[in-house]
Amino acid sequence: MLAGLLRDSLSRLTPRAVIHTLSYSLLLFVIFLVTARVARDVLISRRRPKHLQHYGLIKSNLEDQYDPKYDRAENESVTTPILIKALYIHPIKSCAPIEVRRALLTKIGFAYDRCFAVAVEYEDKWQFISQRTKPRMALIKQELWLPHAASDPGDSLVQAGGCLIVNFPDPDPPVWTERVQAIFESWSLSAMPEVRFTVPLLPGTAQIDELGLKLRDFIIHSRTASGLDLGCIPEVAAALPKLKRFLKVPERQSLTLLRCTPDTLVPTNKNLAPLKYIGTPAMHGYTDQQPVHIINLPSVHATSPLLPKENQPLSALRFRANMYIFGAPAYDEETWKRFRILPKAATTERRARVAPALSVVCRTSRCTMPNVNPDTGLFEEENAPPERKKGKPQPSTTLVEYRTVESGNPAALGYLGMHCVPEDSGFKEAIDQGADLYVEVGDEIEVIETGHHLYGSTGDDY
Ligand SMILES: *[C@@H]1O[C@H](CO)[C@@H](O)[C@H](O)[C@H]1NC(C)=O
Repeated sequence: MLAGLLRDSLSRLTPRAVIHTLSYSLLLFVIFLVTARVARDVLISRRRPKHLQHYGLIKSNLEDQYDPKYDRAENESVTTPILIKALYIHPIKSCAPIEVRRALLTKIGFAYDRCFAVAVEYEDKWQFISQRTKPRMALIKQELWLPHAASDPGDSLVQAGGCLIVNFPDPDPPVWTERVQAIFESWSLSAMPEVRFTVPLLPGTAQIDELGLKLRDFIIHSRTASGLDLGCIPEVAAALPKLKRFLKVPERQSLTLLRCTPDTLVPTNKNLAPLKYIGTPAMHGYTDQQPVHIINLPSVHATSPLLPKENQPLSALRFRANMYIFGAPAYDEETWKRFRILPKAATTERRARVAPALSVVCRTSRCTMPNVNPDTGLFEEENAPPERKKGKPQPSTTLVEYRTVESGNPAALGYLGMHCVPEDSGFKEAIDQGADLYVEVGDEIEVIETGHHLYGSTGDDY
């Protein structure tokens, strides 16, 4: 009987019927895909903070960072201008950076840079954590959302000056519904579930009282910093246990997120430039050393070939600078004492017509963090020699060998990049103009003084 049925249906399967069935199926499938895509876009746009706008670039200005056109050999005589290629901020210290096209320059560096830190409690002491011990922090992504002219002033996130949206891979085994949701939301079959939470940028006094937020002291390297403990904000509290598992923080240790406030900023006391230039010492929130960190792309290009083949090319992003520049010969920035940023970018947005000067205060002493691959959150080494299990860490081994400029600090793993402090005169001029002092990609660097830097940022020198 079965054979009879089969014969019957096969005889009705004319080429015409097959084409019809296939076209209908295809049409239904396309309608399904389009509907799903529209539904996803609606869902995602609804999840965005309603009264805020996203502040950050989607396409990176460093995409072509390895292009040989950014090569400039050491001591090469160069006639082209030195330009700003990319600008970055890192609101939560040690997490993935946010790239911007323009950044507001302040006495504490670029606005929103390193103003949050993650800390753990260990034997009754709170201590910040970084990629030095938790390399997976590189995979914690952050988005910055800020109010705009038409924002509703009654919205609590607008009152907080905006928010951070933080997301990281969910450390727990996914349930199939979460997997499907992740695929649907990211429109990618390989997508895995993520944890997301929103943090108010700077809770005001009313929000601080309402949420019961308290100041907490914690240690950043050798100094004690202080900040608002945001761990009891319900959305943050809900995400912290997963964040602990993601970072492999032991269960018995507490973990929290801290935010510096205008009252908890401290003046820098090392590598002070003469006050006749800077006016007042730089202030910092949670930066390690100094407010503005610059990296000259040609220096990274000159260092890259010194690495073992398997560790090339060297990504400039491993150095977590605020300002990536190009045009100067490799390592030339190590001789700069002061420079000015000429507002050359063709911009339509309002900003102060000021060329702010910055004092270059010291070389950047490197640690193990450049060894973390920013894309994978893993420490990297060179290939292991046959007699060993593991190769030497890179690029730090190469930096120690070729870029050690002082013998005063055995803990420094070589030097690359420079620390800078904005001088007060630029801020005064901007206030006189009633405009904000923005620095933009495409602005030009004019070196105004050169000299010798004896030590890195862990020494004390100018
Ligand atoms: C560049 O010039 C400096 C100072 O004159 C010198 O010490 C250095 O060896 C030079 N480097 C190269 C690669 O020529």
